[in-house]
Amino acid sequence: MMNRIYFDNAATTAMDPLVLESMMPYLGQQFGNASSIHSYGREARTAVEQSRKLLAEHLHVKPGELFFTGGGTESTTTVIHCAVRDLGVRHIITSPIEHHATLYNVQFLQSLGLIQISYVELTQDGHIDLVDLEQKLASSKEKTLVSLMHANNEIGNITDIVYVGELCEKYQALFHSDTVQTMAHFHLDLKKTKTHFVSASAHKFHGPKGSGLLYINHDVQIKPLIHGGGQERNMRAGTENVAGIVGFAKAFELSMEHHHEDAVYIRFLKDSMLEKLRESLPDIQFNGDTSERSLYTVLNAAFPLNERSEMLSIQLDIAGICVSGGSACSSGAQGGSHVIKALHPGKSLVPIRFSFSKHNTIAEIETVVSKISEFL
Ligand SMILES: Cc1ncc(COP(=O)(O)O)c(C=O)c1O
Repeated sequence: MMNRIYFDNAATTAMDPLVLESMMPYLGQQFGNASSIHSYGREARTAVEQSRKLLAEHLHVKPGELFFTGGGTESTTTVIHCAVRDLGVRHIITSPIEHHATLYNVQFLQSLGLIQISYVELTQDGHIDLVDLEQKLASSKEKTLVSLMHANNEIGNITDIVYVGELCEKYQALFHSDTVQTMAHFHLDLKKTKTHFVSASAHKFHGPKGSGLLYINHDVQIKPLIHGGGQERNMRAGTENVAGIVGFAKAFELSMEHHHEDAVYIRFLKDSMLEKLRESLPDIQFNGDTSERSLYTVLNAAFPLNERSEMLSIQLDIAGICVSGGSACSSGAQGGSHVIKALHPGKSLVPIRFSFSKHNTIAEIETVVSKISEFL
């Protein structure tokens, strides 16, 4: 097989061999059910609780505020449904560029007549308009949940969730943030963010798929979404995915250990790609903000629409270069991205998302830019 180049790390990342190694015992000899009281069960329980403790220390929360789930989508679904069902939320303020895990859930609850949705305005470069958010909070008459992601998975823009948390406190709204693209990529002090709920997912930082985290602040009490057992202190029924939980914590720990040098290196890759694309294609544009207020892992280029640019992601795939034409978490279809549509309504540009990890190299950037210039 030809050597492939993987520039789709916002869709998922390669699992770190050390993460796999940490998980192996729980897929093999230490296969116990964490709810069993015998020695096999106790081994599994210890692994789960040690993982929770490690994460709680890093995130500056209590272990009792963290719940393991089956991924980012499940964490977000739990928050949105339970906030409406258990906390009397009747108004959800969100943005048109959230992940579908948020948008489809709020739209479903709206279709049942249970809530009203307000979509916060975006600025020119795709940031949340914080003045509009405050106006919407100030004029909200009903119990409100704000659900805004920390960083956008398609364009990379980062929202100041410390400030959003303060606004929510001022107007007594609940605050949920999808931190799927930022957890273990940035230092997150959840106490400082004044969030009530946070969603995260291990496979975005070299951990296993199907392993998620949900933070629920002690001040809020919700009932489980999934019933059928007393696991996760009665919050999430179902036998714990012990290996997945151990993998979550290990991936998190490894990411934070090398966080600074990895972040500097990956930002260098992103900036080099941006510069090289500009040099070889003077009419290229970029979706979202490409400055410091964006993920160092994501660069979303907008190519002028023509017969060749329309075929670009397919051509790159044929050449062994894996990128995303929007968000691979959803359709992956070129031009079909709800984020790009919300950002540039009516504009005909071909968006391609390049997303990097510590495994990428500058030589790969050079190859990809030269292939793109060749195709176009
Ligand atoms: C911002 C964001 N939220 C949520 C999700 C869903 O997470 P998961 O794949 O763990 O369900 C993704 C990607 O998959 C994402 O990028």
